[in-house]
Amino acid sequence: MTDNRPPFRLPTYKIDEEQAKTDEPIRSTSAAPSMGDMLAARVSRRATLRGGLGLAALTIFAGAGLAGCDDNNDNAGGDNAGDDIDSGASGGQSKLTFDSIPHSTADEVRLPDGYRYQTLLAWGTPILSSAAAFDPATNTAEDQAGQTGMHHDGMFLFSQSDDMNAGILAINHENITAAFLHPEGRAEDADGKPTDIAQVRKEMAAHGVSIVEISQDQNGVWRHGLDGRNRRITANTPITMSGPAAGSEYLVTPYSAQGTRTRGTLNNCGRGYTPWGTYLTCEENIQGYFATADPDPGMDKTRYGIGNGGSKFWDNVAGQAGDDAGRFARFDVTASGNGPNDDWRNESNTFGWVVEIDPNDPSSEPKKRTAMGRFRHEGAQPSPIVDGRPIAFYMGDDARGEYCYKFVTADAYIAGQPMPDMLDRGTLYAARFDDDGTGEWLALDVVANDKLAQAFDSQAHLLVNTRTAADIVGATPMDRPEWSAVDPSNGEIYYTLTNNSDRGAKGEEQVDAANPRVDNTYGHIIRQTEADADPAAVTFTWDIFVFGAPAAAGDDLNRSGLTAANDFGSPDGLWFDRRGVLWIQTDNGGNKVSQATNNQMLAVIPADLSDDRVIRAGNQASLKRFLVGPKGCEITGSELSADARTLFANVQHPSGTFPDGHTPARSTTLAIRRNDGKEIAI
Ligand code: FEO
Ligand code: CA
Ligand code: CA
Repeated sequence: MTDNRPPFRLPTYKIDEEQAKTDEPIRSTSAAPSMGDMLAARVSRRATLRGGLGLAALTIFAGAGLAGCDDNNDNAGGDNAGDDIDSGASGGQSKLTFDSIPHSTADEVRLPDGYRYQTLLAWGTPILSSAAAFDPATNTAEDQAGQTGMHHDGMFLFSQSDDMNAGILAINHENITAAFLHPEGRAEDADGKPTDIAQVRKEMAAHGVSIVEISQDQNGVWRHGLDGRNRRITANTPITMSGPAAGSEYLVTPYSAQGTRTRGTLNNCGRGYTPWGTYLTCEENIQGYFATADPDPGMDKTRYGIGNGGSKFWDNVAGQAGDDAGRFARFDVTASGNGPNDDWRNESNTFGWVVEIDPNDPSSEPKKRTAMGRFRHEGAQPSPIVDGRPIAFYMGDDARGEYCYKFVTADAYIAGQPMPDMLDRGTLYAARFDDDGTGEWLALDVVANDKLAQAFDSQAHLLVNTRTAADIVGATPMDRPEWSAVDPSNGEIYYTLTNNSDRGAKGEEQVDAANPRVDNTYGHIIRQTEADADPAAVTFTWDIFVFGAPAAAGDDLNRSGLTAANDFGSPDGLWFDRRGVLWIQTDNGGNKVSQATNNQMLAVIPADLSDDRVIRAGNQASLKRFLVGPKGCEITGSELSADARTLFANVQHPSGTFPDGHTPARSTTLAIRRNDGKEIAI
């Protein structure tokens, strides 16, 4: 098929170096000057407050100049726009124009007055013409491999440069609900291991990533395309191993004697993107797929929670008719043979990475970027894009007591040039948060650090064991780092620390300034400011932006003074849109906030807090609840359309009857719009 359409990608921006040396705000060189003005004004105001900011703080985030979001910043409000500051607010005028909505335990999506949603790309929607219509009772693994997968998570919208009404949506499918996928019941043996190879194939096909062309009509209704650049990436898609660990002995398997390829991506949770128009999907809970009978399997497994249980045990169907080339056997990573060419001991080392996908080319092979480290990856959020400068990617490792990381590219980003392997060269750092509000990025470089050189025989060895390397350099154990987000107005980095009920318990990590609550059931959001606002800096300062808590809790727990209008627990998804709105999404279970409400999505504009800097009792009303999801779901993943008039968000693993009013419930993308068609939220 000949395809002459322009590629979907991010627009790119150049900074004016001369202008950057002054205190004058820097304008984007592309369209939408009023949006640039808005951001620059924020930067300027904060620069004054904080005594000046460095070069990176004066840049405009890559998406900031997208056309179409410049024409209705009038806070006079549409028909739904209430006064934006509730009683008690101070320290800045929030530009958020919607009224915070109440808690809900209903099996439906709740939005502020004046907003509506449509569902798009629910689990099982055919995106390739080879797939049958959604019918879980009859759909095969082959159908599922041409339909959207389950458990929608992180996503990214690539807009088409000449048509803001069209784009490609990349959606992660983190996991499955086996009972929904197999309405006939999952066939299992007495140990709970699967016995039906067709069911296992279907489970593997429901994982991975969907790449889907979408477009909106003149009424703002979004539809997905069929075929075209659509593709599914599953647990079986061939993938290139790239970067320093590729080609090393640690990635050798019977599938790849050279250690340069693997099959599939799994537990795709958070996401990132690059300014050269590629998608980054992040592999999180890989321990849920592999098992080993070795009593002492080594740190590349034990440090990642890979043991003899907790797996989906797909290897249990190995050897059945239809098995080929170890497609199923590979999930048993026991060292049972004569070496890594003879058994699958290294298969789990080919998971736990950030994977780069070109959404424009369905035939391109994704690449796992080993330079970015191996852990339970959450997001990989880039620093503000500056032409001629390196890019930092900020990343969390979601487990109790794990670390925050960043990867800084060795090469400078050059706008408009292909950057085919920029993510293979650079420095990986883990963060140490000191109690005085400062911190240091600790390089995980086997050459530069004697202790690391003693522990690892190569950078490949180190990267496969990234967690151990971060232990050795003394990174700070955090309360489960989930997504990262970067403020487009100043480059500051926010991480959700979702919860850690072990914090402060006997024999567990004790409280410190960055993780200051014992039994941290509700989580918090921490913020980093790079020295000189330089993404390549090796020191930073930090503070805590907001603490999750039930409104009814006392001040010691409810440290941010949250009320029923905005209390939350277990922040997970986190994202700044290009206008500087910070969106917080929750994934809580079993705590007192979750008893009061289904999972939710809140918004705040940190720059509007002015000199208050953090959420506290006097300004907490600036944080507003925007959405509450249906029963059993978490809310995760979000994107803004090029015209800023549609907000996309994902409902993951609903348990009731959403969205069709009957079972099985289906994970789905929401396309949220205002009834008056104006810009979302502001
Ligand atoms: Fe996939 Fe840590 O949430
Ligand atoms: Ca997450
Ligand atoms: Ca989650």
